[in-house]
Amino acid sequence: MNYIQLDPEKCEFVSVANVDEISNGERLFLEVGYEYLVVFNIAGDYYAIADQCSHDDGPLGDGELDGHEVVCPRHGARFDVRSGKALTLPAMKDIPAYPVRVHAGQIEVGFPKK
Ligand code: FES
Repeated sequence: MNYIQLDPEKCEFVSVANVDEISNGERLFLEVGYEYLVVFNIAGDYYAIADQCSHDDGPLGDGELDGHEVVCPRHGARFDVRSGKALTLPAMKDIPAYPVRVHAGQIEVGFPKK
């Protein structure tokens, strides 16, 4: 589920943090409704993915970053934080990636409108 490709008109953007709350190289864990997310700041750009590995549902957000890849701490699958794409085994399915924008100093994450 790559929500990044959704038409912004079909997204509802929710303010999740002030830009000062996630400095470069840091991450923030969030619960929005029933969804658990992690937002990364990589070189000043923000990326939001589901905090759940598609291999065995383990938490993913604590994984090490390698460029734009996050490495699952459980069995080492890699995902691209820009798209949620599963890059290596044992994960075979992509994870949700959400559009992120900055508006008036707030980081906003987009969710599909219900
Ligand atoms: S739970 Fe992430 S690779 Fe297994």
